[in-house]
Amino acid sequence: MTIASARRTTVDGGITVAETVAPVTPVAIEARVDSVDWKQVQAELDAQGWAVVPKLLTHAEADFVAGLYHQEEGFRSHVIMARHGFGRSEYKYFGYKLPPLIQALRTAAYPHLAPIANQWHERMGKQMRFPDEHAAFLDRCHQAGQTRPTPLLLEYAAEDYNCLHRDLYGEHVFPMQIAILLDQPGEDFMGGEFVMTEQRPRMQTRAMVLPLRKGDAAIFAVNSRPMKGLRGDYQVKLNHGVSKLYSGKRHTLGVIFHDAV
Ligand SMILES: [Fe+2]
Repeated sequence: MTIASARRTTVDGGITVAETVAPVTPVAIEARVDSVDWKQVQAELDAQGWAVVPKLLTHAEADFVAGLYHQEEGFRSHVIMARHGFGRSEYKYFGYKLPPLIQALRTAAYPHLAPIANQWHERMGKQMRFPDEHAAFLDRCHQAGQTRPTPLLLEYAAEDYNCLHRDLYGEHVFPMQIAILLDQPGEDFMGGEFVMTEQRPRMQTRAMVLPLRKGDAAIFAVNSRPMKGLRGDYQVKLNHGVSKLYSGKRHTLGVIFHDAV
C-alpha cells in the first residue's frame, strides 16, 4: 500500500491545501521506527521522562500529516479547547481506520516501548504489565470499554496554548506517548514550546522545555515515571503542555497507545 505524501501550499486567504508529491509506505515507516536507537531512547526516558527522536518524519511527511487537519473525513471528533478550559487551541481525534502512516507508526513503535513500560511499572510497584504487540493491548482496552481511537492532530494559531495536563482516558494507560512536531519553530511559528513539568514528592516542581524541530518526535511519560532515590525507586508525576504561540501556525501529531472510553 502506498501513502501519498504531500506538501502544503498557502493560497489566498492563508488557507492551506494538501497536494500529493511523493509516496511513503507503511513498510518504510516501520523500518524507520525499527532503526531508531531505542537504547538511547530508554536511557533518556529513564533519566528525565522524555526522549527526542530527531527526524522521525521527513518534512514532506510532516506536511502531509498536518495537511490532513483541514480534511472533512477521517476524524471522530473536533475539540475546541477553550470550551473545556484546557487552554486555547483546537484538535481533532482520528477515527478508525487510522491513516496508514499513523497506523504504521503506532503499531511499530509500541513493541519497542512495551518492555520499557513494563520495567517502569515494576519499578513503580504497579501491577499491570503490557503485552508485546499493540493489537493485544488494544484488545484489552476495547474489552474494558476503551474503544475510541486517541491519535490526534492539534493546530495552534497565534495566542493559542495548551494547559499542562496528562492524557488519561480510562483505567488502561500505556505510560508513554509520542508527539511529532509538524512545523518548523522560528520559521512557521514563534513561541509554542513543548513544556513538561515534573512533580517530585515534597519538592518543588521542575520545568523542562523539549528541543523539537520539524519532524522530530518527543517520546514522553503520560502520567508518572520511576526515579531512583537513596532508598529505592519512587514515583514522580509528569504533565505536559504547550506555551503560548506568538505567531504562525503549529501542528502536532499525537500518538497515544491506549484508546479512550
Ligand atoms: Fe497531551
